Amino acid sequence: MKIAGTGSYVPERVLTNAELEQMVDTTDEWIVSRTGIRERRIAGPDEKTSDLATKAALRAMEAAGVTAEEIDLIIVGTISPDTFFPSTACHVQRNLGAVRAVAFDVSAACAGFLYAMQIARHFINSGNRKTALIIGADKLSGMVNWEDRNTCVLFGDGAGAAVLTARDPEAADDGGVLSSVMASDGRLTDILSVPGGGSAIPITPENAGQRLNTIHMQGKEVFKAAVKYTLEACEQAIERAGLRAEDIAMIVPHQANVRIVDAIRERLGLPPDRAFLNLHKYGNTSGAAVAIALDEAVRTGVVKKGDHILMVAFGAGFAWSASVIRW
Ligand code: ACO
Repeated sequence: MKIAGTGSYVPERVLTNAELEQMVDTTDEWIVSRTGIRERRIAGPDEKTSDLATKAALRAMEAAGVTAEEIDLIIVGTISPDTFFPSTACHVQRNLGAVRAVAFDVSAACAGFLYAMQIARHFINSGNRKTALIIGADKLSGMVNWEDRNTCVLFGDGAGAAVLTARDPEAADDGGVLSSVMASDGRLTDILSVPGGGSAIPITPENAGQRLNTIHMQGKEVFKAAVKYTLEACEQAIERAGLRAEDIAMIVPHQANVRIVDAIRERLGLPPDRAFLNLHKYGNTSGAAVAIALDEAVRTGVVKKGDHILMVAFGAGFAWSASVIRW
């Protein structure tokens, strides 16, 4: 399987750290030094996750040169679906007119895009499907408690997409996925969650004021687990690809916190210019983050043909995934 084209979309509205200083007890200095984030994009009230996803998808389809009729699989990694059901993937399918596709969502939080990629890889490698559209899309601005400084400074909205097809085994220079790692640890469900609004704790008039349908996070615990599992996944993905860390031209990581990215890059023994970062502009866009980063890295020429790139993401669950790709 190879990535035939990428695309991304972020909403126009920019929310700066200076504006957050007016909303909660925080400072630009605290946010930048602890996270690296300077601003993030916020979707409009009428802009749904499927709208962000559709715009990113159209750009990926244009880059890949495929039409909606050619797509036979759509997977959306999201934790902020338009509706509990139908799936956001079905909303996207309708928007695109991709009538031949089977469409479904994957819930893996910030690992959503890479989970979607690994699942699509199996469909394509088995010959079951030919042209997959995978999307990471989230509108977490609707799930953030804007009075909680521990979380509201971290997140932003956006979407990223890729079209996947079978690689040409005859073409020696045709890129492709060299390895993949996918894992979860359900013992960590409590350190990062939206506890209410589902079947466990339905929102009622009595508990509505407790904001249980917003993001609850134990930041330090998430930080520690993210570094540990992400590093393990990177090392496994590099080894399974038959490479060494120094063979990786660029890490395209989840964009949660520059300190997490630095910790992983340093432990792999790679210099600062080997990790692609755009979290200063977008914050943590959850399932979209790796996909937006990949698209920007490709479009700006940071990733070049023949490069080995390492994509890695972790998120609530805990769920994490990594892949080495030859571009
Ligand atoms: N502004 C000012 N002070 C703040 C803010 C803020 N926005 N947020 C927290 N603080 C305070 C805390 O209240 C705490 O104060 P206290 O010591 O008086 O209690 C103090 O800052 C220190 O907080 P720490 O926890 O030491 O800060 P830390 O260095 O751990 O950074 C952070 C916090 C940025 C949240 C970090 O822990 C982190 O990045 N964790 C991982 C988060 C993450 O990646 N989440 C997304 C996962 S992906 C997904 O699935 C959605």
